[in-house]
Amino acid sequence: MDLPNYLRKKRGKLELKKGKKWITWNPYHSKLAAYLLGSGENWPFTRESKVLYLGAAEGNTVNFLSNICIEGRIIAIDISRISMIELVTLAEEKRNIIPFLGDAHFPEKYRNHAGNPDILYQDIAQADQVNIFVRNYKYFKPKYGFLMIKSHSISGKESEVYSETKKILNQNFNVVKVINISKWAKGHNAYYIE
Ligand SMILES: C[S@@+](CC[C@H](N)C(=O)[O-])C[C@H]1O[C@@H](n2cnc3c(N)ncnc32)[C@H](O)[C@@H]1O
Repeated sequence: MDLPNYLRKKRGKLELKKGKKWITWNPYHSKLAAYLLGSGENWPFTRESKVLYLGAAEGNTVNFLSNICIEGRIIAIDISRISMIELVTLAEEKRNIIPFLGDAHFPEKYRNHAGNPDILYQDIAQADQVNIFVRNYKYFKPKYGFLMIKSHSISGKESEVYSETKKILNQNFNVVKVINISKWAKGHNAYYIE
């Protein structure tokens, strides 16, 4: 995939154009940057995208997405009160981030904030992370999804975790693409879904 004109790879790193400057998007801190460096082929994010982001933490990746989806919005969910403090501070600086303190097991709790997202992005290290993703995708029916799987959070051998994950995703979605991002995020795979 040709990168959009606001992204470039430079010396094994990814950079995002912000105004006239290029800023580093560190793949060791953001699995979405790792997805692109790992040659992820699908990039549905546009200026207007509405992204439902599950597992926002302090907002590192959310911040980059807010620069990309500049006319859209990022609904950023996290269960941690401590992470939420930094996320709320970030949201005060930006006009397109909606932070929400909540549990991704319960999509009905944030449906009023989420509206109709175009893209579901999930990065939650929980034993039932695949089920959380499927539940949210079925509930909100976005066009595209990104699921970052941490194999160590699920019991079983890594290869078995990945094959079981692929099986469940194939049962539920038409398009499932797997990108190995373990070079940047140990024990992780990225999944692109339609
Ligand atoms: C690996 S961190 C996310 C990092 C972030 N995506 C980034 O790129 O900057 C995982 C996050 O998932 C959150 N989390 C765990 N279980 C959750 C749940 N049930 N609902 C919502 N968030 C959850 C944790 O609080 C943590 O902040």
